[in-house]
Amino acid sequence: MIIATKISEVRAQVAAWKKEGLTVGLVPTMGYLHEGHTSLVDRAGKDCDRVVASVFVNPTQFAPGEDLETYPRDFDHDCALLEAHGCHLVFHPEVEEMYSQDAATFVEILSEMPKQLCGKTRPTHFRGVCTVVSKLFNIVTPDKAFFGQKDAQQLAVIRRMAEDLSYPVEIVGCPIVREKDGLAKSSRNTYLSETERKAALVLSKAVFLGEELAGQGERDVKQILGAMRKLIEEEPLARIDYVSAVDGVTMMPVENMQGQILFAVAVYIGKTRLIDNFIWKG
Ligand code: PAJ
Repeated sequence: MIIATKISEVRAQVAAWKKEGLTVGLVPTMGYLHEGHTSLVDRAGKDCDRVVASVFVNPTQFAPGEDLETYPRDFDHDCALLEAHGCHLVFHPEVEEMYSQDAATFVEILSEMPKQLCGKTRPTHFRGVCTVVSKLFNIVTPDKAFFGQKDAQQLAVIRRMAEDLSYPVEIVGCPIVREKDGLAKSSRNTYLSETERKAALVLSKAVFLGEELAGQGERDVKQILGAMRKLIEEEPLARIDYVSAVDGVTMMPVENMQGQILFAVAVYIGKTRLIDNFIWKG
């Protein structure tokens, strides 16, 4: 596996692969990798001849006071996992390689989409995500890029951006990978104490309950959200950020069970903010 820290190295390697007629898949990550991330690498390996993963804790998607400095990092372990999953190149740039001191350009979606759900508490987050992912698309020029359904709003935002900016990249969404007990895998789970780790199960329990109710034929969005909310509120360590139902494409709130609906939750367990979701298709 090639480890590249410079944009020019990535460009040269991808150019060589493309000259051979090989297809390239991109898996953007912020590192501290787990099976959620490696499931994307596995899928990329099935779909594409060469797999590029990026490991970059992107400062522009963190607001002041968020966990940029404390975000967990273990690049050696990341490399071992990536190599074991058949990744061909890992791009691990310094912040200065991605953002020059006088960088002043952002990619921002101007509709209501990035202001919904996580955008309410993290108003500049998706602007940072779009900017870095668009830079990665320009650097790697992948045929396909792979994102997890775990970050459902991020996936929707990236789809919008790729279409709006005519990126010749197919965006592939991949299912949520969970711990045995149901908790969605996340690099931020490492922040949880033992008691918080148990309390965090309310997220997946709420998601499974909502999914079950919808599966049983419940067609009242408010009833489903109410039941999910009630379950989370029973956990003293949990503080709800949102429990919402939105259109699966536009991320705008919905009241009726029609089309594709994203039921999404964001909950603080102590100081750690966790998210989870399920999609209902009519
Ligand atoms: P990060 O949180 O490291 O996640 C990288 C990718 O892994 C995202 O597409 C995310 O949805 C996916 N992922 C994380 N946990 C998952 C799980 N349990 N199951 C399935 N997929 C999972 O998301 C980011 O980084 C950044 O915002 C990034 C896109 C890299 C831009 O900086």
